[in-house]
Amino acid sequence: MKQALINKIKNSFVSEFSKEPLMVFSSGRINLIGEHVDYNDGFVFPAAIDKGIALAIQKSNNDKSTIIANDFEESFQFEIDKIQAIDDGGWRNYLIGVIKEVQAKGKEIGNVNVIFSGNVPAGAGLSSSAALENAIVFGLNELFQLQLTKKEMILISQKAEHNYVGVKCGIMDQFASMYGEKNHFLLLDCRTLEYETYPIDLENYELVLINSNVQHNLSESTYNERRALCEQTAEMFQKSSLRDLDKKELWGRRSDFTNEEYKMVLYVIEEIERAKLAAKAIENRDIKKLGMLLYETHDGLSKQYKVSCEELDFLVDFAKDTRKVVGSRMMGGGFGGCTINLVEKEFVEPFIESVSDSFQEKFGFECTPINVKLSRGTHIIKS
Ligand code: GLA
Repeated sequence: MKQALINKIKNSFVSEFSKEPLMVFSSGRINLIGEHVDYNDGFVFPAAIDKGIALAIQKSNNDKSTIIANDFEESFQFEIDKIQAIDDGGWRNYLIGVIKEVQAKGKEIGNVNVIFSGNVPAGAGLSSSAALENAIVFGLNELFQLQLTKKEMILISQKAEHNYVGVKCGIMDQFASMYGEKNHFLLLDCRTLEYETYPIDLENYELVLINSNVQHNLSESTYNERRALCEQTAEMFQKSSLRDLDKKELWGRRSDFTNEEYKMVLYVIEEIERAKLAAKAIENRDIKKLGMLLYETHDGLSKQYKVSCEELDFLVDFAKDTRKVVGSRMMGGGFGGCTINLVEKEFVEPFIESVSDSFQEKFGFECTPINVKLSRGTHIIKS
């Protein structure tokens, strides 16, 4: 499937621009645990997947750049040194953002032609946006020999999202998409960007993603609001982030918070701890414990941090009532997208069938299982 996508984009590039392109594949990501803690300097446990964005890029022969979004059948043209963010520009601003942030680092780039397409369902919480940002920065770096390190590239991608898309995201998505390794999760310390790779051995269990097919529309402003609350709270305690705050200290100033705010901050403190416990559970091969932690995370995201939705809660409740699903939670920013489920291998098919039927009956539309393999991060495809 990945190869077919790459071939398709390469061929369209050749027929459109009559030149062999440089091909980049940039991965989407999943996250085992550690949700909404990356922007609090916490620990997260993501992995890159075999689905993502294929991007063909080459220097242009004239003084114009053209970018074609194959999936939307849309394109736009610009001059690289006059490019500006576009109001309601959608996908365009991810690319414009990266180009501007590369230029802001003093790096010289010329006009380019680009065609891209993805096989990550948009809005499924699998970070198609980080994959797109990483794809273009990686392509530019290679094409113009910019000598950017991976770390510099992911920081450019993140800044593009902050400054040109308007989502004050953490670093998890860009990191996982860029640094992912085949068959491994990455335990990332978001404060230092140091990480350890964890080979997966889930023994009798398998990870199953169920897409609620609910697009996370509300999420941008709420995401930024949650982040602002976290930062204001850290400041109030004179800490550099919530990573440095413990429950006792928070309790000490209970009356400075509304109930809602208090629960939100408590969620972050607890989730940072849970990600560490999850790493221990994996080291001890205690999959049931890991599963319990996933359920706890969902509970926190739904009831304390309030970033879930009815459809995601339904999927997780259904999983909880199914004995052979040992863990389940919503994944990513929230308000839609996928759940990640830890299911006994032999029970995967019946689980998918029963959850799909019940979901359809309850909401009148389908949820969709998504098959993923843990894969390497953003890379050049050699022809
Ligand atoms: C989005 C953001 C990430 C992270 C997750 C929640 O995917 O891009 O930085 O905050 O939400 O964990």
